Amino acid sequence: MSIIVTGGAGFIGSNFISDWVTKVNEKIIIIDLLTYSGNINNFSKINNKKKLNFAEGDIRDKKFIKSIFNEFKPRAIINFAAETHVDKSISSPEDFISTNILGVFNLLEASREYWSNLPEHERQSFRFFHISTDEVYGDLKTDEPSFNEKNPYSPNSPYSASKASADHLVRAWNKTYGLPTLISKCSNNYGPYQYPEKLIPLCIINALQHKPIPIYGDGLQIRDWLYVEDHCTAIRKILDKGISGETYNIGGNNEKTNIQIVNKICEILDELKPSYKKDSYKKLITHTKDRPGHDRRYSVNSSKIEKELGWIPHENFESGIRKTIEWYLENTDWLKELMSEEYCNWLESHYK
Ligand code: NAD
Ligand code: TYD
Repeated sequence: MSIIVTGGAGFIGSNFISDWVTKVNEKIIIIDLLTYSGNINNFSKINNKKKLNFAEGDIRDKKFIKSIFNEFKPRAIINFAAETHVDKSISSPEDFISTNILGVFNLLEASREYWSNLPEHERQSFRFFHISTDEVYGDLKTDEPSFNEKNPYSPNSPYSASKASADHLVRAWNKTYGLPTLISKCSNNYGPYQYPEKLIPLCIINALQHKPIPIYGDGLQIRDWLYVEDHCTAIRKILDKGISGETYNIGGNNEKTNIQIVNKICEILDELKPSYKKDSYKKLITHTKDRPGHDRRYSVNSSKIEKELGWIPHENFESGIRKTIEWYLENTDWLKELMSEEYCNWLESHYK
């Protein structure tokens, strides 16, 4: 038995694979294009690599995806592969449309062809699991209840619109062709191996380099943060027990404003690695122009996965963010390798 994991060299995918090899005795075929956010070094600390097969390639490449299905005959595919950075989706949306929509279409078609030729009992147990995001629900007012799975889609960024489009395709392939699908919509993740374009690692890295820590607008936007390991556990539970055709929200029950997050990181860094300038890192916090179409608040209601699948998050924000910061402090080599020309050019052009 085996499963295919696409986008497995990215932040959540690589954490999922590390978690899987310690808990499940089943082969994984990792497909990843190794874009700027995919990194083969994310597997370097996995001791037991016997269960891993890595295939570098594109989810948009029909022939390639078909050949992987035919060679490995998986019982499931979990799709993490995506373009994921909202700011990049605003400045250059094309790759988001191509990978996040056409790539998913290609995976669905390859899965459908493979699945329709399986014997009956294998057809029933096969799963096409698509990793989506809470951002597809759109913006939530401070006094509104958290989004549940029945709330309508209302995406506001090119990123969330591309993820919403993919969700619709997945739903349609389930309804029309009967492909057994699962969708999860998770809140903002944090933890080891997150590419430093996202708020938390960017804040840590800029602080350590004594560079400004950029806060968009007033910094009062709210996100619900989940430690990545808790997300990985939820994905295993959904794959294991989730009902075909269903969607599951996954949230951290931990809503914080961006300014609260950044202040907390600075406080922990002040304690663990005080600045040689003898000032608090908070002095580096700099308010910048706001992101266009910036959603004020995301929040999901996770009671469905809690009640039906018995999942709850285990890490609280205090301990999770400390672990994350310690990880970045201990893994400076990993970080140094990411400081490519491409990364520096992005910072330069985006934050100028
Ligand atoms: P990431 O950017 O760190 O990783 C994405 C991975 O996909 C990379 O390894 C990249 O090389 C690969 N990839 C990109 N285009 C590809 C293509 N065409 N073919 C094959 N591989 C390709 O992203 P992440 O934060 O790990 O997110 C993983 C998934 O989880 C995404 O689908 C994202 O929408 C979803 N998600 C992320 C969060 C979050 O907070 N990070 C929250 C909810 C949902
Ligand atoms: P991000 O990590 O990009 O995730 P998402 O946009 O998918 O939620 O951003 C998290 C929040 O932090 C979001 O409200 C935008 C904000 N933010 C900043 O204020 N400054 C930054 O430099 C970045 C990257 C994000």
